[in-house]
Amino acid sequence: MPNAYISGTGMFVPPRVVTNEQLSTEFGVETTHEWIVQRTGIEARRFAEVGVGTSDLAAEASRMALEAAGLAARELDMIVFATLSSDHCFPGSGVYLQQKLGLCDGPDAKFVPALDVRNQCSGFLYGLATASSMVKSGACRHVLLVGAEKHSAALDLSKRGRTVSSLFGDGAGAVVVSATEEDRGVRGWWLGADGRYADVLSQPLWDIRQRPFIPTDEHGVGQVAPEMLWAKMEGKLVFRHAVERMVGVLMTAFTEQGLTLADVDLFLFHQANLRINQYIAEQIGIPSDKLVSNIQKYGNTTAATIPLLMAEAERSGKLRRGMKVACVAFGSGFTWGSAIIDW
Ligand code: ACO
Repeated sequence: MPNAYISGTGMFVPPRVVTNEQLSTEFGVETTHEWIVQRTGIEARRFAEVGVGTSDLAAEASRMALEAAGLAARELDMIVFATLSSDHCFPGSGVYLQQKLGLCDGPDAKFVPALDVRNQCSGFLYGLATASSMVKSGACRHVLLVGAEKHSAALDLSKRGRTVSSLFGDGAGAVVVSATEEDRGVRGWWLGADGRYADVLSQPLWDIRQRPFIPTDEHGVGQVAPEMLWAKMEGKLVFRHAVERMVGVLMTAFTEQGLTLADVDLFLFHQANLRINQYIAEQIGIPSDKLVSNIQKYGNTTAATIPLLMAEAERSGKLRRGMKVACVAFGSGFTWGSAIIDW
């Protein structure tokens, strides 16, 4: 059975930087830099322009990951696309990405399977579990795994939505998960979910139980009430569960792999809130030099946070061959996950 390792990383963030100050002055969010930084650590985020879709961000990050892996897109056997902000309701963003990478063009078109993963902030780790299992089983040699989000189009910028809208940003991270006979790669993954909290952090947008699924007026024009249109979140409850589940699933990984804190060289935590991550690091005694963060620059990019961290940490030299890496995430669902990787 081959091992599954990360043969290349890539990232893309839109060029437009939106500072906390600009969120207020240019986008009209009733907030202050101090409020956001104090509670979340976020100083800025990126917003993509109108006309740019999630799969466009993903395509840029994917090209970088493929180049880093030394692979052509046609050498891929599968695409796994984790997002909560897919280009359209359906089909998923994976097929748009497949087209944008040129896989459908010409006589040597390669119609690889394209799978969308819908596990929000845990989407990348659910995707990593899927991709590495496909590789280890021998079904695939190279799987492109992307986490990408365009949140900026779906933020309620009014006072009602400011708790949520001050957190999120746009971006994409991609990795190629490849087969190897070397003794390295994804050592294990641990995933969980608790559907009792499905509505606590959600964007209901439509209700398929109703007919029609979106209320319409007499002209057939859909009418979506604000409480359905925008994401809602019970922030304090999410905070509490995030801490409990992230610590729990990290400890499970450590126990099953027979690891102590000292064995791990780098921790890549989902970037939802710097305070959550600092609190967890303090609770379990992770030294600050082993915990990398970029939420200050990008905000919460949901499924993209961990691959963005990987790509940046690799390029800055913080993440190097031979290191033992622990990843952990928590998000809407609730869902959570961890993974241990020998880089
Ligand atoms: N600027 C200024 N004031 C604000 C803002 C804002 N952006 N947002 C909310 N407020 C106000 C509220 O209106 C409220 O005012 P009031 O007391 O006059 O009614 C006050 O600040 C407190 O609001 P809360 O919503 O209770 O704020 P809280 O202290 O809980 O902080 C936060 C909110 C930062 C989101 C926190 O609950 C949190 O970190 N939760 C964790 C959830 C998380 O990180 N989610 C990220 C996405 S999910 C994921 O990735 C897992």
